[in-house]
Amino acid sequence: MTEARIIDGNANAAELRDTVAGLVRELRDFHHMVPGLAVVLVGDDPASQVYVRSKNKRATEVGMRSFEHFLPADTTEHQLLTLIEGLNDDPAVHGILIQLPLPRHIDQQKVIEAVDPEKDVDGFHPMNVGRLATGGRALVPCTPEGCLMMLKDQLVTLDGLDAVVVGRSNIVGKPMAQLLLRENCTVTIAHSRTTDLAGVCRRADILVAAVGRPEFIRGEWIKPGAIVMDVGINRVTGPDGKKRLVGDVNFAEAMEIAGAVTPVPGGVGPMTIAVLLRNTMVACCRQSRVKLARCEWI
Ligand code: GUN
Repeated sequence: MTEARIIDGNANAAELRDTVAGLVRELRDFHHMVPGLAVVLVGDDPASQVYVRSKNKRATEVGMRSFEHFLPADTTEHQLLTLIEGLNDDPAVHGILIQLPLPRHIDQQKVIEAVDPEKDVDGFHPMNVGRLATGGRALVPCTPEGCLMMLKDQLVTLDGLDAVVVGRSNIVGKPMAQLLLRENCTVTIAHSRTTDLAGVCRRADILVAAVGRPEFIRGEWIKPGAIVMDVGINRVTGPDGKKRLVGDVNFAEAMEIAGAVTPVPGGVGPMTIAVLLRNTMVACCRQSRVKLARCEWI
């Protein structure tokens, strides 16, 4: 049996960023508009700070305006909602991202629902969740959309394939299932209470792992030749005492049996930010009622 292909998320993301950068240039040169992305972080979680900084850096690189709001951990819910109201009303801001998780004293759902659905580049607002489920013009959550783009790059068609999504979060599992359904896959959402999880996974032509448990999915759970998308990012301490990142899939075992696998790091992760930029550009065009030629997203 030959080894699985490694799906190169960095290459997929670089290609998407290039496409977005071209469209941003077109917007600037022919429509005199610059897409603006506001990213809000409450608290001082170091991992979240790294994510937020790289979102802003990437936005600037593709020619967008980027607005950073770093708020202290003791920010009140009211203060955060007031900031969001201001961003909703600011015509220079086309996309708003509130980094999750929020501190426990803030009602996360209330905050998500405060963001203008047209500026909700995370696709978390119930209006966008509903539009995705009912076939409307949604802004779609970035990680699952990135996964789908990579899958389409690997496969001629997804039509009729068995897809299993392990994990039922609002950020990844549920929207991923909706996207796969829209592509005519037969979709199963599995989770920690699923009976015979290994057997369910073994049916999958497409297996998406989003459980948040290091190397949880084993090689013998994978159908020979399947495409395995690993959404997990887990920091573990190796036998040498060094910290390293691993996914939700046992990568070495998956390589022995799958047809293609995303690595961690360098798989799904880089695509998430590239799709965020895509969504910001789409949001800007829709708010400004601009149609770009050769752009099927808008
Ligand atoms: N925290 C972890 N993933 C995400 C994401 O995709 N968006 C936001 N806003 N926060 C996150």
